[in-house]
Amino acid sequence: MKALVLAGGKGTRLRPLTHTSAKQLVPVANKPVLYYGLEAIRDAGITGVGVIVGDTGREVQSAVGDGSAFGLDVTYIHQEAPLGLAHCVLIAREFLADEPFVMYLGDNFLVDGITGLVDSFRQADYDAQILLTKVAEPQFYGVAELGPDGEIIGLEEKPEHPRSDLAIVGVYTFSPAIHEAVRAISPSARGELEITDAITWLIDNGRRVHSHFVSGYWRDTGRLQDMLECNRIVLEAIEPDIRGTVDGLSDITGRVVIEPGAVVENSVIRGPAVIGAHTKIVNSFVGPYTSIGEGCTLEHAEVEYAIVLGESTIRGVSRLTYSLIGRNVEVTRAPGVPDTCQLMVGDHSRVQVRS
Ligand code: TTP
Repeated sequence: MKALVLAGGKGTRLRPLTHTSAKQLVPVANKPVLYYGLEAIRDAGITGVGVIVGDTGREVQSAVGDGSAFGLDVTYIHQEAPLGLAHCVLIAREFLADEPFVMYLGDNFLVDGITGLVDSFRQADYDAQILLTKVAEPQFYGVAELGPDGEIIGLEEKPEHPRSDLAIVGVYTFSPAIHEAVRAISPSARGELEITDAITWLIDNGRRVHSHFVSGYWRDTGRLQDMLECNRIVLEAIEPDIRGTVDGLSDITGRVVIEPGAVVENSVIRGPAVIGAHTKIVNSFVGPYTSIGEGCTLEHAEVEYAIVLGESTIRGVSRLTYSLIGRNVEVTRAPGVPDTCQLMVGDHSRVQVRS
């Protein structure tokens, strides 16, 4: 069995971060979300992995390399434009050959991994297996409608008027029958070859498509709130590990990881939180569910429920919360007149100032 990992796409919902980098590399507890997926694939006993890459391919390749660091053998497949999930299967035809495979959306996160799904597919005789879960806003997902006996009677991609609240989780398993399906379908109204159409084609052509409910926690990390939520879930389970330097005036409580070379002076860190290598936290407060990347500086700052990527500086800022801060960002206090904001933010940024 092989794996096909989708790490291309536009990532419009995570702009401006995705103007300059791949959304699959945004860190959760200081580790790119894509790594969790690759580890889950390895843990399921799969080694041959095709990774679909687009404009951010170079960055993905330098993060994942040949896959040996994960115990995988990775082949990159370039997609000239994000033409849909089924298009990814189409262009991976040669790599996948005639083996069954698991298709994993590179920005998806499953706490319990995929071993159960892969094992049940290996033992069964299905042409496709999809995972479902109830969500509050099904219009943002692929949606499945089930009949009275649990059989799939309809699949739609991001429907305006969803017929159920059952979202399709971004991990699918397929037999080689899917290759005929992706060749048979046409692009949807939004110009993409939809995997939901390909699976519908399998059903319409008498193939066996099985669905079951995902048991553990799952998130598609395409949006800010989902990234922060994933970060929270992972941080809740981290083992405390202080490898940086903490002075006697600082107070570290709860599950806190301080990576090597980090320095904490006269500060309070209330876990769960992770502080990246060579980051300096001085006269500051880091609150629960916060991941601070490597090489950052926090001075006279209060940050909680946030993800801060590497090399960023936060200085003189009180209570920054529910935030995703990119790489090499500076957040500082405006000089002069109190209660003013001075901003230079990238295209498609979202800034919420004090009301
Ligand atoms: P999506 O989240 O559906 O699409 P997107 O990445 O373009 O994001 P947005 O909706 O915010 O613009 O994609 C799911 C995953 O599949 C994601 O990891 C990107 C990847 N993907 C591809 O590799 N090729 C594609 O053609 C598409 C549509 C997605």
